[in-house]
Amino acid sequence: MKLLKYLEILRLTRISLEEYSNWGQDEIHKVTIATTSCNRDSFMKSAYQLSYTENINPQKELNNIKQRVNCCSKCSLGKSRLNAVFGNGAVDASLIFIGEGPGYDEDHKGEPFIGKAGQFLTKIIEAMNYKRETVYISNIVKCHPMIDPCNPEKRSNDRPPSLEEIKACIPYLDMQLEIIRPKIIVTLGASSTRGLLNNEEPISKIRGKLKEYKGIKLIPTFHPAALLRNSNLKKPVWEDMKKVIRYLETGEIW
Ligand code: SF4
Ligand code: URA
Repeated sequence: MKLLKYLEILRLTRISLEEYSNWGQDEIHKVTIATTSCNRDSFMKSAYQLSYTENINPQKELNNIKQRVNCCSKCSLGKSRLNAVFGNGAVDASLIFIGEGPGYDEDHKGEPFIGKAGQFLTKIIEAMNYKRETVYISNIVKCHPMIDPCNPEKRSNDRPPSLEEIKACIPYLDMQLEIIRPKIIVTLGASSTRGLLNNEEPISKIRGKLKEYKGIKLIPTFHPAALLRNSNLKKPVWEDMKKVIRYLETGEIW
């Protein structure tokens, strides 16, 4: 039990160090000293002194990161967004969906996948016999990528995030994955698939193939917005989701 707690503290400390990589050198130095002490007892004491390990609670950890995202300006999307969209769902979800980025509706409400594509995603989740609240939903970037960033009130003002924006934002998703530790990631569309896999293959080629990201199984599929434009894509997406269900229910890899 003690060992488990010790390992949990190490894990959370690493997450926090990643988070603090945004801070100045002095702060990183302080935290590093506190966490690299050779003496186990003094390490435990130092680790406990860090407020974020006082009460290990994954929901609290997520809330802390959400607060940082809400005031993030690591890329230019931070200047034009109305609301950052952190993601939502179950903190212990086995399944996480990663979209491209917030659109108009999401930017206005601060919640992921609530527009038309989101309603379609809800249908897919329910067809899989899950509920939205029992999975986790987020995006590869947390702020709305706009064609015209001066006009957040304009509809159809969405664009895919740039690689630079994805690179700036990915540490937040990494932290979410560390805390939630899902069994499988479903990337929706090309942006999140490329962002996580560093792979230039078209989504039509790579979809349905088993991949991995940081030790977590990953399956790319088409974005629900693409399904709204082309209903022929529904069938392949359903094939992909059947693989996900099978993996979650039996642990078998297709
Ligand atoms: Fe920060 Fe990500 Fe928003 Fe860029 S998109 S400002 S990195 S939260
Ligand atoms: N499309 C996305 O990729 N993400 C959202 O949150 C909404 C629409």
